[in-house]
Amino acid sequence: MNITIGRKDGDPLSFVANPDEKVLHAALRSGLTVPYECATGTCGSCRAKLVSGELDDGWADAHGKKALKAARGEFLMCQCVAQSGCTIRIPSPVTQQDPEASVPDHFNGSISEFKQLTSDVMSFSVSLPEEVGFHAGQFMALQLPGVEGTRAYSMVNYSTQTAKLEFVIKRFKGGKCSEWLFDSPEENSRVTLFGPLGHAIFEPQLGHDLLLLAGGSGIAGMMAILEQADQTGYLQTHKIELIFGVRTAEDIFYLSELRRMAVAHPENLLLTIALSDAENDRDTPGLPEALSDLPRNLKIAKGGFVHEHIDETRTTDNTMAFIAGPPPMVDGSIGVLITDCEFEVDRIRYDKFA
Ligand code: FES
Repeated sequence: MNITIGRKDGDPLSFVANPDEKVLHAALRSGLTVPYECATGTCGSCRAKLVSGELDDGWADAHGKKALKAARGEFLMCQCVAQSGCTIRIPSPVTQQDPEASVPDHFNGSISEFKQLTSDVMSFSVSLPEEVGFHAGQFMALQLPGVEGTRAYSMVNYSTQTAKLEFVIKRFKGGKCSEWLFDSPEENSRVTLFGPLGHAIFEPQLGHDLLLLAGGSGIAGMMAILEQADQTGYLQTHKIELIFGVRTAEDIFYLSELRRMAVAHPENLLLTIALSDAENDRDTPGLPEALSDLPRNLKIAKGGFVHEHIDETRTTDNTMAFIAGPPPMVDGSIGVLITDCEFEVDRIRYDKFA
């Protein structure tokens, strides 16, 4: 289907959507800079207005539709498929990317290597038939077999080109993807992906020190950023601080990976694991054995949420903050960064896809 975007400040832009392809996916695949954040129907950022033509809405009750004016023809590009040629309008400027720039695309993959990391956190990998490049901090929209709709998962691993993507998921009560992955995962099942997506990316060329704030499975993209910084020597010349929040010591995962990083970069890397609910640790007042004998730059903080451990004396005008986790954790962290640490908003990066 041919879709045209009418623009106030320029000629219309057109792109072609394949049968059953979401308008957002088709536009991004065509190299158009259309707005989005979650790509999964929850944030409302991909709002557009249908001027003419017919659309099929794949998720009538999408949370992201709360602020839409449906009577005026507004719709979510990440949920709708064109049923005829369409003309749409988008409230923010849209341009055509440089033809050399990489664009997201559709992939078929095979899911495997399920590994339970804690009682409610699991990692898995997806093998692709071809290599894909992505920025540390980006995510894929994944569709699991038999599960309706897509979910956004950040890549944990980092490589300039790779045919294997690693993900981590926290169990969500009643969540269809959670149920499939925790209760009936089948090795080598076929999955479909669209990506890479996301604007909260690590750009080493900007030369910032980094403050990484992660809650629960929000650690995924931060692990990719740490991996890239480790691989490329970035930590030899820049400081990175990570604050990783979980509830109790039993909820900690990626400890051995974090320990390895801390040992490798004793001067420029500071890692804090914040246990918000530490009084519920079975071993209170002590901590599990695995948490003893940690390198001095890997600390366990008992009590307090991630944002309560941000120390403004350790941030400077050159610090870039990345945030990922549950919405209250993201909101709390943004508040502290702006009010206590005097961050400008362009030094705070996050993608809303909770
Ligand atoms: Fe479409 Fe978030 S609702 S990008």
